[in-house]
Amino acid sequence: MKLSVIGAGYVGLTTAACLAQVGHDVFCSESDLEKLSKLQSGVMPLFEPHLEKVIRTGREASNLHFGSTEDGISWGDAIFICVGTPPLANGEADLSAIESVARMIAKRASGYKLIVEKSTVPVQTGAQLRRHLAVHSTDSLHYDVASNPEFLREGTSVDDFLHPDRIVIGVESERAAELLRAIYKPIIEQKFTCPVHNDCPKRQEPTFLVTDTGSAELIKHASNSFLAMKISFINMVADLCEAVGADVAQVAEGMGLDPRIGPAFLNPGIGFGGFCFPKDVQAFIRIAQKSGCDFSLLREVEKINQLRVERLIEKVRNELWVMRGKKIAVWGLAFKPNTDDVRFAPSIALVKALLQEGAIIKAYDPKAMEKAKAVLPDLEYCSDPYQASHGADAIVIVTEWDEFRRMDWTLVRSLVDRPLIIDGRNMLSIAQLTESGFHYVSVGRPSVSPNERGQHRVEAKVGAQGESLPLDDAQEQVLARRRKK
Ligand code: UDX
Repeated sequence: MKLSVIGAGYVGLTTAACLAQVGHDVFCSESDLEKLSKLQSGVMPLFEPHLEKVIRTGREASNLHFGSTEDGISWGDAIFICVGTPPLANGEADLSAIESVARMIAKRASGYKLIVEKSTVPVQTGAQLRRHLAVHSTDSLHYDVASNPEFLREGTSVDDFLHPDRIVIGVESERAAELLRAIYKPIIEQKFTCPVHNDCPKRQEPTFLVTDTGSAELIKHASNSFLAMKISFINMVADLCEAVGADVAQVAEGMGLDPRIGPAFLNPGIGFGGFCFPKDVQAFIRIAQKSGCDFSLLREVEKINQLRVERLIEKVRNELWVMRGKKIAVWGLAFKPNTDDVRFAPSIALVKALLQEGAIIKAYDPKAMEKAKAVLPDLEYCSDPYQASHGADAIVIVTEWDEFRRMDWTLVRSLVDRPLIIDGRNMLSIAQLTESGFHYVSVGRPSVSPNERGQHRVEAKVGAQGESLPLDDAQEQVLARRRKK
């Protein structure tokens, strides 16, 4: 089928490339001319695993094209609107890009068009789109408006798009439902050449959920807000674990064994970031407010999240005492691994605050340093984590890149001025780090340090002022047993 995708950000580019991968003839439009010319010459505007390959395949097979929005509008039977909906100052989603695309469709399109909103939009945007088209479109245009929220995550977007748990569509006509079912047929039946897995295992067919436009729009905001709530919940549990000397990793494991809770999104740390959760939680609070609902729960989720960075800095302060002049190695800048995206990344607030206190920062990230330089210009960027750790008084882990699990800790130990690691992602093993002679502090887990006799002194409890308190014997024994695991 001939399909158009308007907007070549994470959602648009993945949607266009993957719909071409499963056999459709796709035209992807981008109004940012610099980005468009990059795409037309096969240069990737962002880092996303597998996406470059899928785009190359589509371009070589001539069923993936890049061009202007004007050309895109007349190309496809269905037009997927994937433009950005960034937050306005008041937290509401900025829909101006959606409106201008709608205006162009109304003016230029003719015949039948299925117009699909795929950007994350507040509830009732579909209804507004319909009204807008009714006012501005010519008689030659017949259309349906549908909602088809996207649930892909950065870093796994191609896999998530081609192997979704569910495909949600919001429609007001049978015709629109049938057309979207036909578009997604290869993915519903999981019948396509998978660019991610060589021998793609037989998978559960995704649920194709057909609902009304408003409900589909709400499913997106509600899903992201719920996941963000889960993260803030476990972060609060982590703080409690620190106060009572328990281990949040164990608590999360115990919780997650209950299928009603599930183990996913129970990783505590420096808080959620990225271009989705922070803005979607904000937008959902605003949507509810405008509809007379006080979503106080989400305001708490947001507040808890905003305090995570300060909580980690508190740990750094407690260990380093005076921050001025201290050399800190920051490992990770991206808001999560496998992406070069630093938008709303916790690293930004953390680094700015540490610099504010006079610390000297050397940073390393495998993919995101170019984008970080735009927001954190006066930082020393290093070619690898070892270079960043040279002479460090502390290493602070901010993004859980896999390569940090494979470090040569003896080499790191020889490079740092002080063997202190503060892990804002709980990605490393307490046992391994202490065996390597590091004082290892993480989130909601016992922090352990080798004492002069080389034995491990456990400082699990954290006092009201954030200071470390020794554990009692019973807790010591439990921890010793656990360290042996
Ligand atoms: C999210 C949703 O997962 C996805 O369905 C939606 O389409 C877009 O928004 P993304 O923002 O790419 O995707 O990242 P995600 O993997 O959800 O992580 C979001 C943030 O939460 C990251 O900063 C991550 O580090 C943090 N996180 C995630 C935690 O702190 N703890 C967890 O347990 C999981």
